[in-house]
Amino acid sequence: MSEQEEVKRPWYATLRHKDWDAIYREGTPPWEANHPNPDLLRVVTERRQELRRCAFLEIGCGTGADAIDLAKQGFQVTAVDSSATAIERARTRAEQVDALLRIVLGDVFSFARHRETFDFVFDIGFYQFIRRTDLKSYLDLLWSVTHPGSYYFTVCGASETALGHPKEPPLVSERELRWEVGRLFEIIEIKPGVLGSPFREEGFPAHACLMRRPVVGKK
Ligand SMILES: C[S@@+](CC[C@H](N)C(=O)[O-])C[C@H]1O[C@@H](n2cnc3c(N)ncnc32)[C@H](O)[C@@H]1O
Repeated sequence: MSEQEEVKRPWYATLRHKDWDAIYREGTPPWEANHPNPDLLRVVTERRQELRRCAFLEIGCGTGADAIDLAKQGFQVTAVDSSATAIERARTRAEQVDALLRIVLGDVFSFARHRETFDFVFDIGFYQFIRRTDLKSYLDLLWSVTHPGSYYFTVCGASETALGHPKEPPLVSERELRWEVGRLFEIIEIKPGVLGSPFREEGFPAHACLMRRPVVGKK
C-alpha cells in the first residue's frame, strides 16, 4: 500500500480487540459523549410502560453513560465492556450518582456463553465496529442473549450522510443494516440518529434502529 493510501485509511482501520483499553487509557475516545444517547432515551421514553419490567443488556457500555442513565430511571440493567479502564470509570460514575446496576468487566462473547437472556439488548456504536470483522459471531451473540419478543436497538454511523470527518465513526448503510441484522430481527424503525463525540459538538449522523426478535406463530 502506498503512503498516500495509508493516510486515507480511517482512524479505526487497525483497531484490534486489545487496543480498546489503550484508547481509554490515552484519554477521551472519539465515541465518548459523556451524556446519554438521545435516540436511546427517545425509544425508552416512547415505550416506558411496556419496558418498565424489562431486563436491559448494554453491549460495549464504555464508561456507562447510557446504562447508568437507564438504571437511574429505574430499569434493571446489565452493562458489559472488555476495557478495564472504561469499566473502572463506569463504576466510579455509577457510585457518584448512586445508580444500581450490574457492571461486568469482560468479553461480551464469553458473557453470552452463560445463556442469560434479556428483554432489551442495545449497543451504542458496537455493531458498527464488530460487523467489519466478525458479523457472524455478533449475530450468534445477539441470538444467545435474546429470546423471542426481545428488542435489539443499535445506533451506528450512517453512510448516507457521511461527512468525511477524520474522527467519523464506522459507517453503515440502511441497506446493510436491513440485510445484516434484519436476518434475525424484525425491523420496527430506522430513524435518523446521532452518535456523540468530543470531536464534533453536534455529534455524527447515525441510524437509530429498533428491532424485535419474532415470536414464532404470532402475526
Ligand atoms: C465504540 S465504543 C462505544 C462505547 C459506549 N457504548 C459509548 O457510546 O461511549 C465500543 C465499546 O465496546 C467495547 N468492546 C470492544 N470489544 C468488546 C468485547 N469483545 N466485549 C465487550 N466490550 C467490547 C470497547 O471497549 C468500547 O468501550
